[in-house]
Amino acid sequence: MQNINAFEHAETILKVLAKGAFLTTAADGKQNTMTIGWGALGNIWGRSVFTVMVRHSRYTHELIEAHDEFTVSLPLTAAFSKALGLCGTKSGRDLDKFAAAELVAVPGQVVKVPVIKGAGLQLECRIVEKREMAPENFDKALAEKWYADKDWHTYYTGEIVAAYLD
Ligand SMILES: Cc1cc2nc3c(=O)[nH]c(=O)nc-3n(C[C@H](O)[C@H](O)[C@H](O)COP(=O)(O)O)c2cc1C
Repeated sequence: MQNINAFEHAETILKVLAKGAFLTTAADGKQNTMTIGWGALGNIWGRSVFTVMVRHSRYTHELIEAHDEFTVSLPLTAAFSKALGLCGTKSGRDLDKFAAAELVAVPGQVVKVPVIKGAGLQLECRIVEKREMAPENFDKALAEKWYADKDWHTYYTGEIVAAYLD
């Protein structure tokens, strides 16, 4: 385990994210992970933050609403490609994705949400702001392209409380 400054790995984080990363949530004795491709690394309020976007329909939305922490595990090798595919198409409402994708959840160093063992780059986050999209303020063309079904995202901005390579 090697602690890192997330900003020094910004290029890696954003490049890997574009191919897929695991957003893991846990609440009330349940845990789940889903694939994400969108997110933002930032320096806001004097904190290092990472923002994820979760559509209302996701099981992840239910869990993240119940517990204000999440982790993002960014795979640094192709070994997780199949698991990313499964976790991006199946819902934790219907199956245990850790078992189905042969992923091992290990406890977070700081937060009460696990990370995906061996992914490579781990971010542990505590939510400091939650924000709903405001359709009336949003670009109309993008709304038609991405939200024709009105399944809007909620933004969760988390302070990065631990960042490390495993
Ligand atoms: C490459 C990729 C990126 C994705 N990015 C997101 C995302 O940023 N936000 C989101 O809500 N869903 C995203 N999804 C869809 C969810 O991963 C998918 O709907 C998943 O089955 C939800 O799981 P859950 O119901 O267990 O939360 C993505 C899927 C893929 C394949």
